[in-house]
Amino acid sequence: MQAEIDQETVLALIGAARQARARAYAPYSRFAVGAALLAEDGTVIEGCNVENASSPLGLCAERAAVAAAVVRGYRRFRAIAVVGGERAISPCGGCRQVLREFGDFWVVGGNADGTALERWRLSELLPAAFGPGLGE
Ligand code: THU
Repeated sequence: MQAEIDQETVLALIGAARQARARAYAPYSRFAVGAALLAEDGTVIEGCNVENASSPLGLCAERAAVAAAVVRGYRRFRAIAVVGGERAISPCGGCRQVLREFGDFWVVGGNADGTALERWRLSELLPAAFGPGLGE
């Protein structure tokens, strides 16, 4: 069972996601998203969406954060925060699957200014998931 996550940690993670959002490259949708993963050792790894003129090649903030974490050697996480828009957002379906690859941890969704927050477990957002080990 994943440990609870305290409010101070949640707010720090939302702050990191908001900073990442400021660096989003979203000239097509103009919907900037920032994400911040909290690794088990307390390290925070950020990501932002990176769009492309060829729209299907655009990358979501969550997946950018996962790639940045994995290349730094992090594969175990306590939480991810994601922020964007006027209302709290949650990861898209594809990102839920990518996150699930690395466990079942907390997902905190926020709006752009960090005032509206919601939190879920990944297993709530992606129930009955196809995960590591099942396709072997
Ligand atoms: N986006 C994310 O980066 N994460 C989400 O959770 C939702 C959507 C991005 C994809 C695209 O660049 C823009 O937001 C609009 O959909």
